[in-house]
Amino acid sequence: MKIILTGIQPSGALHLGNYFGAMQPAIEAQSQYQAVYFIADYHALTSITKADDLRRYSVDAAAGWLACGLDPERTILFRQSDRPEVHELAWLLSVVTPMGLLERATSYKDKIAQGAETNHGLFAYPVLMAADILLYDSDFVPVGKDQKQHLEIARDIAQKFNDRFGPVFKLPEPMIREATAIVPGIDGRKMSKSYGNAIPLFGDEKEIKKAVMGIRTDSTPMEQPKQIEGTVLGQLMEAVNPEGYKDYIAYGAKPGVGYGDLKKKLLGDIASRFAEYQKKYRHYQANPDEVEAVLFDGAIRARALAVPIIEKARKATGLSK
Ligand code: TRP
Repeated sequence: MKIILTGIQPSGALHLGNYFGAMQPAIEAQSQYQAVYFIADYHALTSITKADDLRRYSVDAAAGWLACGLDPERTILFRQSDRPEVHELAWLLSVVTPMGLLERATSYKDKIAQGAETNHGLFAYPVLMAADILLYDSDFVPVGKDQKQHLEIARDIAQKFNDRFGPVFKLPEPMIREATAIVPGIDGRKMSKSYGNAIPLFGDEKEIKKAVMGIRTDSTPMEQPKQIEGTVLGQLMEAVNPEGYKDYIAYGAKPGVGYGDLKKKLLGDIASRFAEYQKKYRHYQANPDEVEAVLFDGAIRARALAVPIIEKARKATGLSK
């Protein structure tokens, strides 16, 4: 089976944008590929500064993916930092990585432009990401559009290494999600925790209700048909309940039905669609040891993939016989 690999940023409360954009397709892919998914906690250290946050977000992210259907028997789910071999590989890759390649990375340049304090971790971020990908012999790497350049860098680095030391690495195929947002946030921009426009996946009822009732709509009067198609509300409805989309439109066309009513219907559909996942999530929250056990087992299985590759790379470079 071909290997599909991706890194999950543990960045706090998961939302519908994460679910429809990344989680659902990745979870579906586990039946077709050997999926290798990890919580990218080393990478997260470039932005998370509190130890308790990193610990909590990492377990929460794993719990969220498990709750939404990641099958730990089939899929290898682990914590990036439980496989420190990735740093040895990152070093071996760094000696073939031109400075200019990293200086051109737009995510790094953006951080500088935003006035962020630069550090070596931010600069070397793509090298560590290349190591993640190459260490586990990945065939396919699904990521959002914002990570496309990082994948190109990973391929470049792999090629440079192979050119210098012989054919050690398989060149991974990117799988880029072109859409910036499958579902928009409640204000119409890309759904993002940092914009404060997210509908949380595992929030409590009140939080979810507050977000849904806050979806931006126009001021069509009650008597007139409501605008659904092409609107933020419409896109969310289509994602949450594609079979029921026509019913939403019909309902919105009834005189006397306001946007508030439509939002309540959406809220009900969100509740029923995700009820099972929320229940499982709460189970993992109450039993974090179960999540830890999955991650521990995942790290052992990841090791079996990593060891032959790191040995090959050590031999090719002359570090070992
Ligand atoms: N940088 C990725 C992101 O921000 C996360 C990531 C880390 C990753 N290592 C990876 C993704 C390897 C794919 C492959 O989303």
